[in-house]
Amino acid sequence: MARERIITGENQSPEEQRLNYALRPETFDQYIGQPSLVRKLQIAVSAARTRGEPVDHTLLHGPPGLGKTTLAHVIANEMKARVHVTAGPALTKGADLVGLLTKLDAGDVLFIDEIHRLPAVVEEYLYPAMEDYKVDIPLDSGMHARAVTVDLKPFTLIGATTRLGLLTGPMRGRFGIAEHLDFYQPEALKLILRANALKLKLESSADALDELARRSRGTPRIANRLLRRVRDFATVESDGKISLKITQAALELAGIDDRGLDEQDRAYLRAIIEIYNGGPVGVEAVAATLGEERDTLEDVIEPFLLQSGLVTRTRQGRVVTRAAYELLGLRYTPPPGTEAGLAGGEKDLFDGD
Ligand SMILES: Nc1ncnc2c1ncn2[C@@H]1O[C@H](COP(=O)(O)OP(=O)(O)O)[C@@H](O)[C@H]1O
Ligand SMILES: [Mg+2]
Repeated sequence: MARERIITGENQSPEEQRLNYALRPETFDQYIGQPSLVRKLQIAVSAARTRGEPVDHTLLHGPPGLGKTTLAHVIANEMKARVHVTAGPALTKGADLVGLLTKLDAGDVLFIDEIHRLPAVVEEYLYPAMEDYKVDIPLDSGMHARAVTVDLKPFTLIGATTRLGLLTGPMRGRFGIAEHLDFYQPEALKLILRANALKLKLESSADALDELARRSRGTPRIANRLLRRVRDFATVESDGKISLKITQAALELAGIDDRGLDEQDRAYLRAIIEIYNGGPVGVEAVAATLGEERDTLEDVIEPFLLQSGLVTRTRQGRVVTRAAYELLGLRYTPPPGTEAGLAGGEKDLFDGD
């Protein structure tokens, strides 16, 4: 990633990873938010336990920082299973995956993060493994290549992805459970923040936690990060207590506005407004203008702006809404050639790039 970005959903420093790890819920009971998803997973887990079988292969998708990795560990923990963790880009050839699969014990969980980045050649090995707990190991190559089929122990594959659309159809089809994680409501984030403030032995006021929850982009990882920022600020500038005033001052210093948007979000909106007349504009063009990766825009920046109704996706590209103009204090001029109403609610009709 190019530069430090406080509201990115992605993990940053090793210190942050350690802290996140320490704050990670371990059971369904400790898991706050996502009630209907948690309920479905709880049922799947207890049914599997009753049958003495592994849980169905599970796919978790949604923006970074919402709890996919956490849930994978919770599922494994509730199944009293071991987890083996890997990621799509780490598995470059079939043998990498076969090595992992043959090490699995009955009931183990194999967690593949960023599963949309699994190379096609590796995916081929995964299909029979998921369906029949079998894997074909080639003995030699060439015209008369022979292969030996090896039986695997029954296991659960948990895949996580920020980009469901990049997953192949056959891959998606092989998951018995596929669930989306939504942004969290401020009430849920407040509960998470309160629990974590306790764990960190921080004194915090209710209105300060409300403020943090509201400005965390619906994302637990960001909530934890902001809490840390405010803690540091409170230590240096005051008596270490997390008050509303300290919270507001710390967030202002970090460039985070009232709705949780940071400078990069505003730059994204401003670029579309000032350079592309509010859109519609293709994501590639916006990425080039901002000097960002297209993936960063689509994975990290856009999901929350879309959900906040500040931008919409149409067949012609991104369109900034009236709310975004108002947020930036700019006068709204409907993009030429589009009806003013188009920016409103056409997301589902024209979803795509
Ligand atoms: N429901 C939750 N309750 C409490 N903390 C959570 C919850 N979901 C996520 N977190 C926190 O946010 C951090 C990021 O979650 P993670 O599972 O790594 O997200 P993802 O894998 O979706 O990017 C976790 O380390 C944990 O501290
Ligand atoms: Mg993760």
